[in-house]
Amino acid sequence: MQMNTKNNLAGLEKYSRQLLSSKDATHGLGRALRNLVREIALFKNHTGAKHSHTQRRFPRVQIGGGTHYLRGFLNIDINNPADLIYDVREGIPLPNSSVQFLFCEHFLEHIDYPASVKKMIKEAHRILIHGGKIVIGVPDTALVIGAYAKKDDKKLKEYTKKWYGKRGILKHFNTAIDVVNYHMRDMDDSEKYAHHFWGYDQEKLESLLKRAGFHHIQIWKFNSAIANPKRKFGSIYIEAKK
Ligand SMILES: C[S@@+](CC[C@H](N)C(=O)[O-])C[C@H]1O[C@@H](n2cnc3c(N)ncnc32)[C@H](O)[C@@H]1O
Repeated sequence: MQMNTKNNLAGLEKYSRQLLSSKDATHGLGRALRNLVREIALFKNHTGAKHSHTQRRFPRVQIGGGTHYLRGFLNIDINNPADLIYDVREGIPLPNSSVQFLFCEHFLEHIDYPASVKKMIKEAHRILIHGGKIVIGVPDTALVIGAYAKKDDKKLKEYTKKWYGKRGILKHFNTAIDVVNYHMRDMDDSEKYAHHFWGYDQEKLESLLKRAGFHHIQIWKFNSAIANPKRKFGSIYIEAKK
């Protein structure tokens, strides 16, 4: 990173934090500043890490695993713990045709669609060997929209409780549409929970993978030896081959 970029960013972060803690920041400015501070932290992680893995071959790779660190995999994430700290919106820093199995769970909804999502899937295709497999798991938006369309209050209550019950935000779920919105756009003022940018269903995942050149696209049977058991409820997983 250029020295002046580093200094400018450090200044911007310091000033943003000062403004955030002052009484001057309006609610809207506060939200924008928190996003900025978050992005600066990701940028610092990304540019500060040494990418010693990038020329090696790894049979199994996980992207966006967070604390669900998988032994026997190369775990790539923008935050610790990870073997390789990297902002995947910038690409996947592995050689062409070097990976046999790529796993990625509850990650896609956290990056912007279309630019970063399409880039990530294209990169996934590039790094996989011929016949290599990708598995993508996401929160299943069809479930929540299906329940909303059927006015199935019982299901909507179940989703609300299971997904958001521990967050102390239930007072904001006043009508059925609130759970749909939280599912797709989770963007309240929480520092802890990262935003959701997009909703996915089977058709969307299949379309993304097909357009990137994948085939043999089908539902992946949940396997708790790899997947995070807490994602079993309410997620959809698709596998495909290069
Ligand atoms: C909701 S967590 C999911 C963690 C794990 N896969 C699971 O299902 O429990 C999303 C993960 O994606 C990572 N992440 C978000 N944006 C990223 C990016 N641009 N590049 C790499 N990792 C990112 C976050 O750091 C976080 O660990």
